[in-house]
Amino acid sequence: MSRYILAFDQGTTSSRAIIFDKDYMSVAIGQQEFTQHYPNSGWVEHDPEDIWRTTIETGKQALENARIDINDIAAIGITNQRETTVIWNRKTGKPIYNAIVWQDRRTAEICNELKQRGLEETFSKKTGLLLDPYFSGTKIAWILDNVPGARNQAENGELAFGTIDCFLLWRLTGGKIHATDATNASRTLIYDIHAGGWSDELMDILRIPKSMLPDVKDSAGNFGTTDPDLFGAPVQITGVAGDQQSATIGQACFNPGMMKSTYGTGCFALLNTGDTPVKSKHKLLTTIAYQLDGKPTYALEGSIFVAGAAVQWLRDGLKIIGHAGQSGEFAEDADPNQSVILVPAFVGLGVPHWDAECRGAIFGLTRATGPRELAKAALESVCYQTRDLLNAMHADYSGNLDTVLRVDGGMVASNWTMQRLADMLGAPVDRPVSTETTALGAAYLAGLKIGFYPDLETFSQAWKCEKQFTPAWSDDQREAAYARWQDAVRRTLTNY
Ligand code: G3P
Repeated sequence: MSRYILAFDQGTTSSRAIIFDKDYMSVAIGQQEFTQHYPNSGWVEHDPEDIWRTTIETGKQALENARIDINDIAAIGITNQRETTVIWNRKTGKPIYNAIVWQDRRTAEICNELKQRGLEETFSKKTGLLLDPYFSGTKIAWILDNVPGARNQAENGELAFGTIDCFLLWRLTGGKIHATDATNASRTLIYDIHAGGWSDELMDILRIPKSMLPDVKDSAGNFGTTDPDLFGAPVQITGVAGDQQSATIGQACFNPGMMKSTYGTGCFALLNTGDTPVKSKHKLLTTIAYQLDGKPTYALEGSIFVAGAAVQWLRDGLKIIGHAGQSGEFAEDADPNQSVILVPAFVGLGVPHWDAECRGAIFGLTRATGPRELAKAALESVCYQTRDLLNAMHADYSGNLDTVLRVDGGMVASNWTMQRLADMLGAPVDRPVSTETTALGAAYLAGLKIGFYPDLETFSQAWKCEKQFTPAWSDDQREAAYARWQDAVRRTLTNY
């Protein structure tokens, strides 16, 4: 009798494999970072072979750490960095170009041209997205136009496109399955989230041949079985979701009005809007939160490109902290009389500005500003940005919005940051017992499909809060700080 579920969480900076037991507890982890490639200003690439290798190695590591056999695994779930685009040759399985990462800005020009042709509404009406380089569609177009011979091969049906889940599925099943789930499809800029299928019209505009595209399935579904040679025996893959959607599931945000925010490389807040796709007036995205039994549940999403990446910059770029955890300690000791503001627009700004060309800025530097103040400014920038996107959600959503924000991801370990977040939002922030919510969501989907885990209601009841942070600031204090942030952002935007 198999006793565990294995979840692969393929993220932007590392691949992780986590084994969960029947009680949703993580019993073992394998984790590996891999190389980021920055071949040009604003370009970000991954070598798909690194992604593949680290996925398999971390899977083996996790099994070893748990001291269990592959036969103890009942099913596999996959969750992944979204939008990142891979195109490979169907015969050889070899990618024809590096994976173009979600953060990559090289297609800003293509997006501008499409906007000038008046096509933004055509895209957003069908996909719930905006014309920004963030999404997969223009990345596919770029590869077809820039890799010699690619367009011909694509038109002859020789190439396959996939987001990372899809590429991993293809490899894990020995090239037998070319599929993705509805959440990942909803990030491509060519998937109609209302009709539930690839849009011929949008594919035509971007000149993407249909033969390249995967089948789109429910998030809990049959995605094939692994090639027995990989882990020693075949295992069924029964759950797939993009990482932010997976975290929404792991946080049990199943009712309309519930909201989570995940602090990884970037920060992504999702608000469950039930079976209604809400169209934003404030440049939030409409996306599929999960799809079960053919029925999509929608979400409003606010995407911030730089959250944990700002802490990484303190550690690896400025080298003013030795490890991520130190940023909170530094912030706590910062001079309270300085108000340094960092606008971390390293790759432009997402919600609510969508300015692909602006770059980061620091305001309020004095001769006394040092590492502590910069660390504080970096952490506060994440809180201010969360407030930006929650403001947009409040303005867009007419249903009953839960005032509590459920948080997860690496940064939430810092009590200082979570307290500042609650202060800045003027609302409670709940940190769950299990902060491995992204991987848990994928494990839950896989387990749900095979009856290993119970229904959504029972899963929700198992969600437990570890610590609630309540706002300590007065309204005046909060609004004055937020006004300084808004002013700094205004001065950073390209159209200032
Ligand atoms: O949309 C991008 C997102 O999926 C990346 O997530 O956790 O790798 O920063 P993460």
